[in-house]
Amino acid sequence: MRRIFLWMARNSFLRKHVPNLWFARRAVRRFMPGERLEDALAAAETFAPFGVTAYFTRLGENLTDLAEADAIAAHYLDALDQIKARGMDGEISVKLTQLGLDLDAEATRLHVGALAKRARELGLGTMWIDMEGSDYTETTVALYESLKPSHPNLGLCLQAYLRRTAADVARLLPLTPAIRLVKGAYDEPAEVAYRSGAEVDAGFVAQAMAILSGGGMLGLGTHDVKLIEQIGAAAAAAGIGRERYEVEMLYGIRADELKRLARAGYRARVLIAYGEFWYPWYLRRLAERPANVTFVLRQLLPW
Ligand code: FDA
Repeated sequence: MRRIFLWMARNSFLRKHVPNLWFARRAVRRFMPGERLEDALAAAETFAPFGVTAYFTRLGENLTDLAEADAIAAHYLDALDQIKARGMDGEISVKLTQLGLDLDAEATRLHVGALAKRARELGLGTMWIDMEGSDYTETTVALYESLKPSHPNLGLCLQAYLRRTAADVARLLPLTPAIRLVKGAYDEPAEVAYRSGAEVDAGFVAQAMAILSGGGMLGLGTHDVKLIEQIGAAAAAAGIGRERYEVEMLYGIRADELKRLARAGYRARVLIAYGEFWYPWYLRRLAERPANVTFVLRQLLPW
């Protein structure tokens, strides 16, 4: 089932047509409060009273024209200004392919640097870089490595399912990185990724502890509460305080648990997506949990 959804996420015919179907548009609302930045900002404000901060990502990937990347970068610069204007503890998370990585890596690097600079000038927190499919891992890690020394507020997502991630953590630790650790959302071959849940979870715990013990800041990007509490307990036993890490979940998934963890004293942040190009991203959410398909099918019913 997971592989079918991930194939559907890549299929160009479906990418073009599914977003126009009314029931698909209605179903995606569970994971996305709306297509506009204002929708995402307004949703974030509903989390603030629960002690949950937010970060934002505009959906879209793999552009064909560099002018589109320039427009996305300009959009994010404006988004940072709007976050500041609302007095929010808000951050952004960007995809490098959306900033032109397939077309001009140097232009992408300049865009990321400019966004990190603006976030820092505004006194906002981390400027995050998402991690995409494994074809992009090395370029993404290298770009982070080159920018982090001059942009201390830059954070990078690493995927626990990749066999190379332990080495990437070791490689980045001298930079005192901010790393958002996730399990990984793409369909990767066994040569590059662990395929069993137990191996991915074991890697997740090992990499989380390596980041914390090595002096990095950690974003626990997972809805797996058991894993979060296991890492929280291991960190406490090692004398590592909760200011060194934060729990991060996607809008629409386990919000009650995120709020409960915030009440229990964890730092907690919700990642809110918005934008028109939600199709592949949405299919990856369905792939993570086939039970969500029941939810989609229910959207077809009038009640
Ligand atoms: P797992 O899939 O084991 O789920 C644990 C539990 O959470 C499940 O039992 C279920 O109850 C609940 N759950 C999980 N997913 C659900 C869903 N879709 N619907 C309903 N319930 C669900 N990936 C990537 O490759 N690059 C990236 O940059 C990012 N960025 C990112 C940021 C943040 C803040 C999060 C939370 C996740 C990502 N991801 C990501 C996605 C990540 O790789 C992974 O695919 C998902 O988080 C699902 O895995 P879990 O860690 O939640 O565990």
